[in-house]
Amino acid sequence: METSTTPGIVSREHEKEILRAERETERHGGAPVVTGDGNLPELRPELLAQLAHVRELLRTELEGVGEGEACLTCSFQAEDVLLLHLALELRPNIPVLFLETGYHFPETYEYRDRMTREWNLNLTNLLPKKTVAEQESEFGLLYQTEPNRCCGLRKVEPLFDAVANYKVWLTGLRREQARSRTALKEIDDFAVKPDTIVRKLSPFADWTTRDVWQLSAHFNIPLLPLYDLGYTSIGCQPCTTLPTDPNDPRSGRWGGKKVECGIHIQATDTANPDAAH
Ligand code: ADX
Ligand code: SF4
Repeated sequence: METSTTPGIVSREHEKEILRAERETERHGGAPVVTGDGNLPELRPELLAQLAHVRELLRTELEGVGEGEACLTCSFQAEDVLLLHLALELRPNIPVLFLETGYHFPETYEYRDRMTREWNLNLTNLLPKKTVAEQESEFGLLYQTEPNRCCGLRKVEPLFDAVANYKVWLTGLRREQARSRTALKEIDDFAVKPDTIVRKLSPFADWTTRDVWQLSAHFNIPLLPLYDLGYTSIGCQPCTTLPTDPNDPRSGRWGGKKVECGIHIQATDTANPDAAH
């Protein structure tokens, strides 16, 4: 491993090693947790209760709507895949919506394809109106010059158009992820258009990163390999780096230029554009 020669300054490689080690520790709940069978981490009673609550919430909410009336938006980050695992217990054919911006990491595409195959997912790739080539030849690199506009065209518009066709929308959002998410509700009536309200569920709203990692390990869910490189929040490749602040998992998103892409800001909420729901 490369080491830094300047005291107090760590090399990029060393920094990645530290992040990897922290992630490993977090994944196992702060301490190595191994059960008698030597494999699956044991679950704390609190986490078991949280899991029971989420299963009950999903059961109640999904019971109230038909097969094609509930969807799950999936970025293929850990929260979404864990939620998907739980939703598939009830609805093996639940529509899974992936925003195919054309700008994801190769690892994300590979992992999406692997999970779709292995879990037999009913996946829809939501496409923007313009291809990457069309957008770039018309407007240049919007992710550099006008990231809000780029997210508007490649994320918000396709996602709101698609989600408007459902009554219930499942997301893996958590309050702890960002200051902009502290008011997140577990159940919210969310305006995807000024006149279209969808019941948005964020069953992990009060969960910690550790809860997610522990439960994913418990269920033996393979995770997006980018986590092993130290990424803590993963979106489009041009707008995602390793976290720059170890205390802020989203500090590697948009180079600090913005905090939300817009898909969690209600179409009616123009007064407070940074508050996610
Ligand atoms: S983002 O707004 O900054 O991109 P984040 O990566 O934290 O969001 O993910 C939060 C939730 O937004 C996910 O649980 C998922 O519901 C939705 N989401 C984010 N990115 C995508 C994507 N590429 N495809 C589908 N849903 C996504
Ligand atoms: Fe464009 Fe970046 Fe938004 Fe992706 S995250 S849609 S590349 S600005």
